[in-house]
Amino acid sequence: MKKDSFYRKLSTSELIDFIIKKYHQSLRLNNPKILKDLDYLTNKYKHKEQKIALIYELYMKFDNLIIKHIDKEEKIFFKAIKNLEKTIEVCKNIDPESVNECRNFIEQQEKEHMNIDELLMSIEKLTLNLKAINDPRFYEFLHKTNSIIYETKEHAKIEDFYLNEKIEFYLNLI
Ligand SMILES: [Fe+2]
Ligand SMILES: [Fe+2]
Repeated sequence: MKKDSFYRKLSTSELIDFIIKKYHQSLRLNNPKILKDLDYLTNKYKHKEQKIALIYELYMKFDNLIIKHIDKEEKIFFKAIKNLEKTIEVCKNIDPESVNECRNFIEQQEKEHMNIDELLMSIEKLTLNLKAINDPRFYEFLHKTNSIIYETKEHAKIEDFYLNEKIEFYLNLI
């Protein structure tokens, strides 16, 4: 598989940078736009399609969860992993405390991915069953939301599988 060898060829730091540039930036850029669309659509069409207000509520929850999650990754987890990679390159002298910390963090991240995925599935189900609204903003909203749903599934898969595989390799060296 092409993607498979691409993710495996990257170093840990390169994969982290790729995730931030492609997936984290897209969330930071598109979520505010989707929320604006939802605000507009809810105010204008909630009497015609009540599911839109429910999607707005769920999307606010999703935004809140995922932005906190990626902030934590960038500020704490990814930084720690990059340090681990550097330390191993230099001397392999890793403090066992940081290994435990790292394993706990991976576990926590996987749980958060599952919660985010559940929320996203509810949003997806509702958007698939929406009555069409004759307004270009509606189609823009659908297009952007579908992209974010697809990207977020891919994003979590890369972290849970390819990134954790690289980290496990380091942890097993210690
Ligand atoms: Fe992430
Ligand atoms: Fe994540």
